[in-house]
Amino acid sequence: MADIFERLVKNYGPIGQHRERAYGYYAFPKLEGEIGSRMIFRGKEMIVWSLNNYLGLANHPEVRKIDADASAQYGLAYPMGARMMSGNSTHHEQLEDELAKFENKEDAILLNYGYQGIMSAIDTLCGRHDIIVYDAEAHACIIDGLRLHPGHRYVFKHNDIEDFEKQMHRATKLISEQGTGGILVITEGVFGMAGDQGKLKEICALKGKYEFRLLVDDAHGFGTLGKTGAGAGEEQGCQDEIDIYFSTFAKSMASIGAFMAGPRVIIDYIRYNIRSQIFAKSLPMPIVLGNLKRLDMLRTMPELKEKLWANALRLQQGLKERGFDIGKTDSPVTPVYMKGGVEEATAMVQDIRENYGIFCSIVVYPVIPKGHIIYRLIPTAGHTDEDIDLTLQAFTDTKQKLDAGAYKVEAIPDMAEAR
Ligand SMILES: Cc1ncc(COP(=O)(O)O)c(C=O)c1O
Repeated sequence: MADIFERLVKNYGPIGQHRERAYGYYAFPKLEGEIGSRMIFRGKEMIVWSLNNYLGLANHPEVRKIDADASAQYGLAYPMGARMMSGNSTHHEQLEDELAKFENKEDAILLNYGYQGIMSAIDTLCGRHDIIVYDAEAHACIIDGLRLHPGHRYVFKHNDIEDFEKQMHRATKLISEQGTGGILVITEGVFGMAGDQGKLKEICALKGKYEFRLLVDDAHGFGTLGKTGAGAGEEQGCQDEIDIYFSTFAKSMASIGAFMAGPRVIIDYIRYNIRSQIFAKSLPMPIVLGNLKRLDMLRTMPELKEKLWANALRLQQGLKERGFDIGKTDSPVTPVYMKGGVEEATAMVQDIRENYGIFCSIVVYPVIPKGHIIYRLIPTAGHTDEDIDLTLQAFTDTKQKLDAGAYKVEAIPDMAEAR
């Protein structure tokens, strides 16, 4: 018999294998100081492009005040227990009502975390005869939700409507052969790596041709897209055709928790059947009051979204003018595509951090194909023109060095922190 622990430590996985050189630098870095566009990393000030603090709410004085006041009043314990048993409050219900109204849906349900919430919702919504049709680049939480699904699933090529129709045709055929079951389509409002919006309008337009319900994960669109900030459905003019709208509070709201909004009868069904909420403690009151305040600011301070977009466009335009490939983004998420190996990518990150004071995330193999590097920049309402201009200059300099082979190193530079 194999010992499970022995097998695990033989292979720490694609990122874990680099842990001895990466800890505290490329992996598990510690950003310190007040959350904003400038933070401290290893004692040095950095311009930070890694935080989904889109509207800059994380450190807003009114947000800090409500978080502090609500914590002083309630502590983290109240209310105790799961919502269904003893963990409900009028503020939890108020937040659900306000979210439903904002998303133009009949009802909403709070989820403790987006990740486990959406997984559990997929499990709640689909039985073994149902078929799930989903986008190939769906977030890990959707993929893990699919793992809980005992029935069939068909994946369509990312944002490819022709392939979507092919999979819908297969799914429809199987349902009619089975004589039972329905179809749930799952896609995203904004894909968080490439920043391209999901083709919600095109998918919704096919509702007459195929019979299905649509669940949209709009983690990156909520607060950043649409006239009022209600997200990708509002932006694309198809919010009413989205059957279940999901977003986390972890991005534009700079908080924690998540929600789903949809028809009252279905949200009520979820409320009484979603295992991740029924068998888990509800969101603590400071989080709920903090989210009510954030939602109010998101709705009433359009200048935050305007500033976010002004910054996003300045950054994206500047990168394009300098010849960088930023792919197909039509959201604030700004990927910069380059060519190089994992070692080169890490040497370049080291240079950009140590010599230019820029902190951004890199994505390399195995998340993307070998030989490719993505630098992922998240502009926020809190960035300044100076932040953007310094970053553009740093990217221009380091790209020249990358192309000249200056980052060709034998191994990942050892930047690990002792633990
Ligand atoms: C698209 C998407 N869905 C869901 C989640 C998970 O949300 P949470 O952080 O609330 O668990 C994330 C990441 O935060 C995400 O990017």
